[in-house]
Amino acid sequence: MSVASRTDVAFQQCISPRCGATFSIDEVHTSCPVCSGLLDIAYDWDRSRPPSSFHFFEKKWTRRSDPLAFSGVWRFHEMLPFAPPEKVVTIGEGQTLLAVSDSVGAFVGTRPGRLHLQYEGLNPSGSFKDNGMSAAFTHARMIGAKRAACASTGNTSASLAVYCAVTRLMRAIIFIGSGKISYGKLSQALDYGALTIQIAGDFDDAMARVKEVSSRLGIYLVNSVNPFRIEGQKTIMYRVLESLGWEVPDWIVVPGGNLGNSSAFGKAFSEMKHVGLIDRVPRLAVINAAGANTLYELYHHRGLRWQKGQVDLSPACHYYDELDRDKKKANTIASAIEINRPVNLTKCLRALEECDGVVREVSEQEILDAKAQVGAGGLGCEPASAASVAGAKQLVAEGVIDRDERVVCVLTGHQLKDPTATVAYHTTDQSLFNDVLGSRGVSRASFANRAITVGNRIEEIIQAIDLYALG
Ligand code: F0G
Repeated sequence: MSVASRTDVAFQQCISPRCGATFSIDEVHTSCPVCSGLLDIAYDWDRSRPPSSFHFFEKKWTRRSDPLAFSGVWRFHEMLPFAPPEKVVTIGEGQTLLAVSDSVGAFVGTRPGRLHLQYEGLNPSGSFKDNGMSAAFTHARMIGAKRAACASTGNTSASLAVYCAVTRLMRAIIFIGSGKISYGKLSQALDYGALTIQIAGDFDDAMARVKEVSSRLGIYLVNSVNPFRIEGQKTIMYRVLESLGWEVPDWIVVPGGNLGNSSAFGKAFSEMKHVGLIDRVPRLAVINAAGANTLYELYHHRGLRWQKGQVDLSPACHYYDELDRDKKKANTIASAIEINRPVNLTKCLRALEECDGVVREVSEQEILDAKAQVGAGGLGCEPASAASVAGAKQLVAEGVIDRDERVVCVLTGHQLKDPTATVAYHTTDQSLFNDVLGSRGVSRASFANRAITVGNRIEEIIQAIDLYALG
């Protein structure tokens, strides 16, 4: 099957059914020019004729020397057929892993064999962002962009920087809040040569500024308001299904920050159902950090719902006014999701409706304990990623997730992204613990693996090993 692509089958469309305006994929928009809503990349599936069976994608495994078949994003090109193959940008993203974890499952409360971790830390820049970045870069290449920008809590910027450094297609300009980005991520942006602009403010401020600057200077914006980013991130779910022998799990649990992933996952499942590849969609759980819980607040306490597109956003507007009035800023150890104004809010609400979703918030303590359990199970992750596991645990305890159900928690970023949080959790240095975690209300490191301090003497070392490494 050839990928019928581009303007003949793909277009941009406002997600609001009240507006529904359409635009060519040759245009660059990060919001609907008519009503300012979010845009989707939409397809004429009758013309693009996606495969009728998943085995089509599996066959591509025999063509791994073809970069488009090797990429974990572009292997599924037929499900995001907006790009001509010769324009596709790939640096080998999406070689990720779905692993059963019985140790994390025991922590979460599911039965053996039921808890899966989708480990997106294996991407070239160490987070799921590369899935979306390869798609955004492909679009940027299609329209001939020369500069790309993003605001970031660290992973988008690392991803943008890698794609610019490897492909040399564009110059990277990244906006970060001051003191709000972990060193692991900042080091990537600096090392890969991105122009790094640290503004006096947080992520929400950086996001507002980068939107203004990009539109004034005609710079290509690669935050997840860019609908092409979402197309790439859909493929995480194709790979989940692929790893499950094309069976749909019961639950997808994902951390919520700017809400791009949850939006992308909902779109992936809706489209797969629409074209007949699956006959049911999984339930979706979006997990906020309690210190950055806009979605949770709006969904649980202010009744915000998609309502088949008839969403009334006034509760969100009032909430944002309150945040401004009270000068309330997002604040969580899970710095990747330290976001109060999620740009994909409405798309996420749509995904929640389509996937019978739930929203939860988890505390700093819950995040860090879950992260330690993930690490002890061998697939380390950064704090934000562990929110998914902490959220799943909460949902099992509530009886919302049944212990027998098949659950996929998405681990969005690699363990090495944020060593400070990890070291502070496991440290024997009380003042380090207090500085980094105690100040955030974390009272204990329930699963700490503390270093043993010994003198520089063989006997003492052997004694320590005998004592602590029994068996
Ligand atoms: N997990 C990690 C590791 C992230 O970096 C992010 C977002 C999220 C979860 C939240 O994902 O926005 O799709 O809900 N990081 C962005 C950044 C904001 O700038 O790197 P989302």
